[in-house]
Amino acid sequence: MSDLASLESEILAQVSAAADEPAIEAVRVSALGKKGVISERMATLGKMAPDERKAAGAALNVLKDKVSEALSARKAVLGEAALEARLATETLDMTLPVRPQMQGTIHPVSQVWEEVVQIFGDLGFSVAEGPHIEDDFHNFDALNMPPDHPARQEHDTFYFNEKPDGSRMVLRTHTSPVQIRTMLSQKPPIRIIAPGRTFRSDSDMTHTPMFNQVEGLVLDETTHLGNLKWILAEFCKAFFEVDEVKMRFRASHFPFTEPSMEVDIQYAREGGQLKIGTGDKWLEILGSGMVHPNVIRAGGLDPDKVQGFAFGMGLDRLAMLKYGIPDLRAFFESDLRWLRHYGFRALQVPTLAGGLS
Ligand code: PHE
Repeated sequence: MSDLASLESEILAQVSAAADEPAIEAVRVSALGKKGVISERMATLGKMAPDERKAAGAALNVLKDKVSEALSARKAVLGEAALEARLATETLDMTLPVRPQMQGTIHPVSQVWEEVVQIFGDLGFSVAEGPHIEDDFHNFDALNMPPDHPARQEHDTFYFNEKPDGSRMVLRTHTSPVQIRTMLSQKPPIRIIAPGRTFRSDSDMTHTPMFNQVEGLVLDETTHLGNLKWILAEFCKAFFEVDEVKMRFRASHFPFTEPSMEVDIQYAREGGQLKIGTGDKWLEILGSGMVHPNVIRAGGLDPDKVQGFAFGMGLDRLAMLKYGIPDLRAFFESDLRWLRHYGFRALQVPTLAGGLS
């Protein structure tokens, strides 16, 4: 046994002397490998008398375990030391710029949509929605346009096939039906905008069969024209990111507002660019007015108790003006070169306080 004890201390000494992983592996092979000293001793067990074999076998197994343990302990120590050494010498350059990646861009319409929602959100408006496929009632009748009303012809409406009862659904020609849906589902005070798709059979530089509008509706007991003017002025300043916007409220006509006004803003053309807010030219940007009593009634409310204003403007048109995009048709052609040129990197939204948030 003393012979085993000296073997043990010899091997353990080799283990603690091993300076790296290959050295440990060499010790393992020389002790526990197929031809290692311990394995060789194991092989001699077969020739022993049973009693002797039992004792010698047990002692060898103990030795084997001790050596295995010592090997893995040493391995762990060396592994840690190696890691420490690497950490001490290697540096990570945190200032290295990341490799550029192809990124999608945000469509100008989405960008402007978010900007408009943010600005009106700051003014206390919430967002309302309605379906793209509307019935006569919401798109026309309730908006004070009975079946024979001439304004119906002006809208170049896309009609669906007649239903058995003779009625025809339409692709909504404006976002104004959301006014009706909101009145029928919310109680005043109402303060909403309704951005969304609208459809008219029309196509040229500034018209596409599908386009986007933003409706606005404010209804309570006392809202008046002065409020409308202030809200629109605040919106224009925030949207075009200028301190002052000269506006002109021009008498007009919409069946669903009385009185009705179209709103122009002043602009100048400087080196092919539009400059909004100053100048000597007028640009029409929206239609508006005080909600017609018939519309309030169709919305299930009492025009003697509530009053307010509505407005509607072209979202795509706002995008064209703000970001100098000349042809509306290109908005919806999905040309990647166009999208990369006019698209936005991340949502950057102006606040009423001005600038980008
Ligand atoms: N719906 C009108 C249009 O599409 C715009 C409008 C909305 C005018 C609300 C007045 C009030 O032209």
